[in-house]
Amino acid sequence: MSDLRRLSISLEEPLLRRLERLRRGSGYANRSEFLRDLVRAKLVERAWEANEEAVGTITLVYDHHVRELGARLTQMQHDHHTAILATTHVHLDHDHCLEVILVRGRAGQVRRIADGLIQHKGVLHGALTMSATGRQLA
Ligand code: NI
Repeated sequence: MSDLRRLSISLEEPLLRRLERLRRGSGYANRSEFLRDLVRAKLVERAWEANEEAVGTITLVYDHHVRELGARLTQMQHDHHTAILATTHVHLDHDHCLEVILVRGRAGQVRRIADGLIQHKGVLHGALTMSATGRQLA
């Protein structure tokens, strides 16, 4: 970890109470670590808004009986092979598959890949979790 600097901040009492409730509800014992993670979450959000380099996971739950769906999802991943880092496939039950796809690229590109995969007919649920490379978070 880089050198720590102390800072003091001023908050109105009601805002401080809400912050403390949020911290406790999130399970943080340490107020500094809670605030650091809030700042990092904001930095990730900004990195995505600014179309900076980003990493993320795309989660898909789909019905593999839908015609050609598995092949089309795989084809799209091949079309973006430079951005797709890895894919994990789990056969949830007789009908359903779970895929978690790790992606890295410009934020806009990662979002377009996720949107393109999620909108296929037969995909029952899809979600993109956005993160950033370590550079923004140190
Ligand atoms: Ni499967």
